[in-house]
Amino acid sequence: MNAGIHGVGRYVPEQVLTNYDLEKRMDTSDEWIRTRTGIEERRIAPDDIDTSHMAERAARIALDNAGVSGEDVDLIIVATVTPDQPFPSVSCQLQERLGATKAAAMDLSAACSGFMYGIVTASQFIQTGAYRHILVIGVEKLSKITNWEDRNTAVLFGDGAGAVVMGPVSEGKGILSYDLGSDGSGGKHLYQEGDLLYMNGREVFKFAVRQMGESCVNVIDKAGLTKDDIDFLVPHQANIRIMNAARERLNLSEEKMSKTIKKYGNTSAASIGISLAEEVEAGKIKDGDHIVLVGFGGGLTWGAICLKWGK
Ligand code: UT7
Repeated sequence: MNAGIHGVGRYVPEQVLTNYDLEKRMDTSDEWIRTRTGIEERRIAPDDIDTSHMAERAARIALDNAGVSGEDVDLIIVATVTPDQPFPSVSCQLQERLGATKAAAMDLSAACSGFMYGIVTASQFIQTGAYRHILVIGVEKLSKITNWEDRNTAVLFGDGAGAVVMGPVSEGKGILSYDLGSDGSGGKHLYQEGDLLYMNGREVFKFAVRQMGESCVNVIDKAGLTKDDIDFLVPHQANIRIMNAARERLNLSEEKMSKTIKKYGNTSAASIGISLAEEVEAGKIKDGDHIVLVGFGGGLTWGAICLKWGK
């Protein structure tokens, strides 16, 4: 049984925080942020919208888009490092709110690569025929763990949620290959201590440029395709310079890569799901297209997926 994506959904909070707003709060500039990262603004969730609320909104849209009801869902996987609380999990909160009476539920922690890990995990249950409808959500309320005193990190992150409904698809479609990996020795470059996030930007940057490119090439090879076959790239939206390095490795032109970073910043586990939903809505990803999704993040972790779009 081939596993693919039946529906997509996304949610970002309404409140916009621009680079100009940040200039008033810390020693930074719109020019620095834009040229070094590609970010112009990000969304920040208010106190009464926590991670599970954003996840629920994105999930409802994905279910509608797939024509699937909560009762039909067999498994809910939520990738996040900013759950409402350690337990009960965000996925269990969703199980109740979506009326997913027969669903199993688990949260998954792989930082910014979480959505890739979630999709690959879900695909195993579908390929074996065990489950037919699986909700995978990448969601973060990073503003909860952002150190607003640290200009090195505070300017980068935003809040949001991206979701997909996965299920069986016809032969030749869906997930063709994947590549997941980790390197715990790099954990010291990106971590949470107490309530705050810390990052050695330069080290993560070097790792990301190397690993994103390699992982993309790897999944294309494994799928038995060449770079020329790839129609669209949806990379983790961490830094436009990192994303462009991956795109250039695949010889893709600018319009063949998702760039939602400008509006939303780095939303960690949510970024690939949000971008995928936007590009599908905008008609940039069409039935039969070969697309590559790729992410990297704390852990360190990485993950890439090559798929043929459509049911
Ligand atoms: O989701 C996965 C997690 N993270 C990432 O993917 C992040 C990967 N890393 C990056 O994207 C980049 O390393 C950053 C955007 C974080 C930083 O860019 P950079 O080109 O590596 O800059 P840098 O850290 O080498 O800093 C250059 C200068 C420094 O000043 P000095 O030491 O040269 O005087 C920084 O203090 O820029 C300064 N700087 C800033 N200036 C204005 C750092 N942050 C800011 C800021 N505004 N917000």
